[in-house]
Amino acid sequence: MNPRISDAAAPDYVKNEGLKTWVAEMAALCQPDRIVWADGSDEEYTRLCEEMVAAGSMIKLNPEKRPNSYLAWSDPSDVARVEDRTYICTTHKDDAGPNNNWESPAKMKETLTGLFTGCMKGRTMYVIPFSMGPIGSPIAHIGVEISDSAYVVANMKIMTRMGRKVVEQLGEDGAFVPCLHSVGAPLSPGQQDMRWPCNPTVKYIAHFPETREIWSYGSGYGGNALLGKKCFALRIASTMARDEGWLAEHMLILGVESPEGEKSYVAAAFPSACGKTNFAMLIPPKTFDGWKVTTVGDDIAWIKPGKDGRFYAINPEAGYFGVAPGTSEKSNANAMATLHSNVIFTNVALTPDGDVWWEGMSKEIPARLTDWTGQEWTPEIAKATGRKAAHANARFTAPASQCPSLDPEWEAQAGVPISAFIFGGRRSTTVPLVFEAFNWNYGVYMAATLGSETTAAAFGAQGVVRRDPFAMLPFCGYHMGDYFNHWLKMGHVIENPPAIFTVNWFRMDEQGNFMWPGFGENMRVLKWIVDRVKGRASAEKTALGWMPRFEDLDWTGLDVTKEQFEALTKVDTEMWREEFALHGELFDKLKDRLPADMVQRRDQLQQALVD
Ligand code: OXD
Ligand code: MN
Repeated sequence: MNPRISDAAAPDYVKNEGLKTWVAEMAALCQPDRIVWADGSDEEYTRLCEEMVAAGSMIKLNPEKRPNSYLAWSDPSDVARVEDRTYICTTHKDDAGPNNNWESPAKMKETLTGLFTGCMKGRTMYVIPFSMGPIGSPIAHIGVEISDSAYVVANMKIMTRMGRKVVEQLGEDGAFVPCLHSVGAPLSPGQQDMRWPCNPTVKYIAHFPETREIWSYGSGYGGNALLGKKCFALRIASTMARDEGWLAEHMLILGVESPEGEKSYVAAAFPSACGKTNFAMLIPPKTFDGWKVTTVGDDIAWIKPGKDGRFYAINPEAGYFGVAPGTSEKSNANAMATLHSNVIFTNVALTPDGDVWWEGMSKEIPARLTDWTGQEWTPEIAKATGRKAAHANARFTAPASQCPSLDPEWEAQAGVPISAFIFGGRRSTTVPLVFEAFNWNYGVYMAATLGSETTAAAFGAQGVVRRDPFAMLPFCGYHMGDYFNHWLKMGHVIENPPAIFTVNWFRMDEQGNFMWPGFGENMRVLKWIVDRVKGRASAEKTALGWMPRFEDLDWTGLDVTKEQFEALTKVDTEMWREEFALHGELFDKLKDRLPADMVQRRDQLQQALVD
């Protein structure tokens, strides 16, 4: 162990021997110059951000434009989740399933132990205790992240309940998920640090579901580094949920309130960068007088069966790590208001007056910017080079408490009751605007076979349709066939399972224009969904499920003709023949762990629709 830290004591308030031992062991392995226990205070946050500004790794934005806000630009090699470097390490390869990269726990630990040895030399090791969910909620769980990135500490302060209060909740023997993170860039004495430390060539995002541990090496970006989010709240939590009888899902949670004050909550799953944040913060069109949409969460839902036979959900996060490009007053005025202050921006452009800009933020394009790579950017340069001002996966990290549409129950210890599940992908063809599954098992089939055109949230090609079951393909910590089975089971342990709906806002006409106006207009579909659940909306029975007729949706104030509606909801037999073939390809991969119900359901649907 580095002699300077051999006697680095934990603060007095740390009573948990398991935590102290783990921190000491990791310090011995990583050999940092110093250890700092993050207390989660505002002073600590400001100190760390100011240190990063002084070191050149953050820019303080103009306080008159964007109070208490900062901008970070990452290394160009470190801009998104790295799915091909993400591993689920289970004893038996089959338990990770074909949906995950696999390595044995022993082999991965050996590799990572080699990489982590001395990896924090010259750096500070931060200990970041965090709670996913309101502290003390029976649905919440605690994790502790060790990281050598101050940027991670600052982001975790916004994204989770973090610091001393969490250690106090842990007490002497509380359980926590250990999450070890390093940017993988040790410094030799006197070596100048990088602006965005990371390891440009070696990255591992490794999960050990059997022992509930996470080891992440080489990246400082988003879900690779803020380990409470995708790594814990989805990959590890999905395994915990399977074992303990609950659900950990890639879902937003929103409340819908009618003019009469009737409140319903729905949870909706969409793949990354398909507008979950926009949907969660939807502002109803003016003609929906008295209707209100409120936000519980925008990315992740933990859902447990309640004593009254319903599912109850919490948002395990405390902030939004949202995609900036495309966010505007039009697409999401609530997000724009949330971003007025206390925000960390990553990989957006800097304006000459010290504010931020990204593609789609405003109609007027600034004449001159500094882009996310630190270079001069003008519309002319953009035209000539194709260079974007903000990276397509640029993000904002903002406290949920600043969101004007925040639901009053968003921190309810018991969670909120869920009336409907909604699943949607980005599909330019094939999938109609909305339909309701005949029953739970049909709904599970539709969610299981969800397809979506890929986005910039993960490294790799964009715009290619890939099967993304339950929008969980990159996030399910175990075999997808077992996951389908778990969902089938959960619908039957609960007395009143929510209705399940499929939506598609992304259908395009032959010229490549979106056919559905989207954003606030999604309220029309949402209202139909809520009314269906309450038994007061009509629908037509089709081979795919229950579908609204033109007259079943509220069109006041919007010029959508019956013909346009028919184009939005058309079910093309030939396209569905291809679609079922693609479902079959997914099923073939899952082999003997695919529940028989799925195949049966496919045969029934196919027969009714295309045979
Ligand atoms: C996210 C993602 O960051 O899904 O939420 O990639
Ligand atoms: Mn997400």
